[in-house]
Amino acid sequence: MFGSVFQNLHAGESDAVGLDISDETFKFVQLKKGRHGFALAAFGEGDFPKELIVSGEVKQEAEVVKILKDAFARPLYGKLTARHIVCSLPEEHSFTRVIQLPKMSMSEAKEAIKWEIEQSIPMGINDVYYDWQLVEMEQQGVGHQDVLISAAPRKIVDGYVSVIKKCGFIPRALEVESVAVSRSLVKDLKTDAPVLLVDIGATRTSFIIFSGTALQFTSSVPVAGNKMIAAISSVCTVKEEEAKKLFYDIGLDKNQQEGKVYAALEPIASDLANQIRSYVAFYESHAMHEHRKEGSVAVAKILLCGGASNLNGLNVYLGLALKIPVETGNPWTNILKEPLKEVPELSYRRSLGYTTVLGLALSGIQKSDL
Ligand SMILES: Nc1ncnc2c1ncn2[C@@H]1O[C@H](COP(=O)(O)OP(=O)(O)OP(=O)(O)O)[C@@H](O)[C@H]1O
Ligand SMILES: [Mg+2]
Repeated sequence: MFGSVFQNLHAGESDAVGLDISDETFKFVQLKKGRHGFALAAFGEGDFPKELIVSGEVKQEAEVVKILKDAFARPLYGKLTARHIVCSLPEEHSFTRVIQLPKMSMSEAKEAIKWEIEQSIPMGINDVYYDWQLVEMEQQGVGHQDVLISAAPRKIVDGYVSVIKKCGFIPRALEVESVAVSRSLVKDLKTDAPVLLVDIGATRTSFIIFSGTALQFTSSVPVAGNKMIAAISSVCTVKEEEAKKLFYDIGLDKNQQEGKVYAALEPIASDLANQIRSYVAFYESHAMHEHRKEGSVAVAKILLCGGASNLNGLNVYLGLALKIPVETGNPWTNILKEPLKEVPELSYRRSLGYTTVLGLALSGIQKSDL
């Protein structure tokens, strides 16, 4: 499977539930075949108290299992019928990138990939699971092959696998978040020009450059919704609940609340714009693009997703700051028939926070139905 670092090859071909786990929250989705494309079968979400999962590592397994089992038994909508799970791996604890290899035999390539991974990660090769896939090349006769590699610490993968089994499910695959986000947002997983996907969650913002038929680079910073809410709380001297309300209702609007909410959020938005600017510049100058068409290395569009991408005025602010078109992405683009962006049970705005898990669920159902 594309970009997964753990696969249960004997898992059969039945449907799988997507499960997006982070240290403090989780979401799950099951899709089914609909009359037009796919449809939502079930979804749910919940929180983990602090310390149960720390930096991706499951510390209190019994508690995590109990919380998940309860949530799986009572989805917010529908009923889970699949027995398999495709689970996310936290971006900051995994490694995904495209490398270039000279054209070589499969057995040589395997050795070369192992060597590349050893060079690129700060851990021993025996402490990680890794996976790779040849990337479909846009042009023939370029003399090299792009390979998408991903790796994740065994400690983290084994912890998730054990939790999934103890919940009574069969782990199908573990997939790096950025791969799932790409599957959700990039129509048919193909772009004419590089696109930057920006996933703004509660604790982290991830940057993903997707070009051609594969993601090229990923990185993430620990600045997202929670820090924005904390900034409002401090600048406007209000409690967190009130700050959250201002964050949702006002956002980057200068003309409300005497501009105080704007003043609290603007430095963070500006910082985000700077991060994106340097990330894009890095990609454009380092992209392995000898084989790409003339002029096609420039990032043509930015697609926002993640719950905090709902922030009022953010796409306009970033668009002006970066001079690149910024849009809010459609996490249903490969699930529903165009131009649909939501289903009655899960509104468009809410589904932006479901981008990763919708990509995982899509991976789960695609294996069996496409
Ligand atoms: N309507 C909204 N307007 C503004 N912010 C929102 C809205 N709805 C949710 N958020 C914010 O989105 C964030 C949650 O986003 P998301 O569900 O993508 O995070 P997550 O995947 O759980 O977190 P992470 O990826 O950081 O682990 C929270 O900070 C929340 O306050
Ligand atoms: Mg997230």
